Amino acid sequence: MFRIARVASRVSIILLVLSLVVLLWFWQRSFTIRYDELYFNHTLANILKPRWTGSPGHEEVANFLMDQLTSLGFIALRDELFDQRKFTNILGIMNVDAPSFLLLSCHYDSKFLENSPDYVGATDGAVSCAILLHVAKALNAYLRERFSNKQDIGLMLVFFDGHESMLDVKEDFNSLNGSQHFASVETVPLQSIELIISLNLIGAPNHIFLSHFNNTYTLHERLADIEVELREASKLTECHQLFHKIKDHDSDIEDDHYPFISEGVAAMHIVPHTYPEYWHTEKDDLSNLYWPAIRNMNLIFPQFVYEYLENHMEFLSIIGKYK
Ligand SMILES: *[C@@H]1O[C@H](CO)[C@@H](O)[C@H](O)[C@H]1NC(C)=O
Ligand SMILES: *[C@@H]1O[C@H](CO)[C@@H](O)[C@H](O)[C@H]1NC(C)=O
Ligand SMILES: *[C@@H]1O[C@H](CO)[C@@H](O)[C@H](O)[C@H]1NC(C)=O
Repeated sequence: MFRIARVASRVSIILLVLSLVVLLWFWQRSFTIRYDELYFNHTLANILKPRWTGSPGHEEVANFLMDQLTSLGFIALRDELFDQRKFTNILGIMNVDAPSFLLLSCHYDSKFLENSPDYVGATDGAVSCAILLHVAKALNAYLRERFSNKQDIGLMLVFFDGHESMLDVKEDFNSLNGSQHFASVETVPLQSIELIISLNLIGAPNHIFLSHFNNTYTLHERLADIEVELREASKLTECHQLFHKIKDHDSDIEDDHYPFISEGVAAMHIVPHTYPEYWHTEKDDLSNLYWPAIRNMNLIFPQFVYEYLENHMEFLSIIGKYK
């Protein structure tokens, strides 16, 4: 009798411990990524203002980005360049001493449109920058704890300035002054950048996202798989499929990763397959954003970033040679 009781109590202790371990595992997993739409909205509201290089709104947005990065636990830096006017890239770095980095980028300057003084470029930079800050917010507990103990990889968020062409330039072409400067003076040694993921033109309806580089196609596939997994787990908002496993490797929209790829840095470009309907018009504002796609992007992308940071050597090994 006693023996049975003793065995039973041992078994129940083992079961208790096991269930605690499982609980802890679930708890850790479910708290790794915390979707925070309120934070996203707050961030977007602070970026959605005319913010062409040199304008008061530009300075306000730069200060806002610095403040947010600091309060999210990043080391925040201004990378300034003077060339006719002052350009200021904003950098947030976590794990500064790491030998290699994942770099996430967007551009925070808006284009100066002569006849549209209120132009806020919602899809043209603002949403993408808010997505980057939201990644840092959604992963914040992970970044401050587990990630901050990592010796082998760091995370860098870069908000480029000078993406749009100058005030007096009428043509629609990108100057990429901020990213050009970053890559040419090596604000951060390019050797240490494992991968740059540049985001732009996100937030308009009817857009899909394709792979633009053969050497990072497998990573793009992972993004598409994450979307499927989250949809199957009923985590996504009802919306068309965003990421498609399609190789659109012969066309890409010129963006801030260009100065990096020309130096051999691996890149992914999260950009829609066509320009937003209201691109470079005053209608590119909050009221014309397509929220289902933004919400889903805010769930899919942080998951991808988390997986990359956790398994970067594995991801790195599948990045092929560029072209
Ligand atoms: C965020 O903003 C969108 C658009 O204005 C709104 O539909 C949504 O309810 C807001 N989310 C939160 C959590 O306030
Ligand atoms: C800024 O961009 C313009 C247009 O591409 C170019 O003419 C100029 O040299 C650039 N300046 C810097 C510092 O990159
Ligand atoms: C694309 O990448 C795959 C896998 O790395 C490789 O086998 C293939 O040759 C590449 N295609 C081109 C056109 O470079």
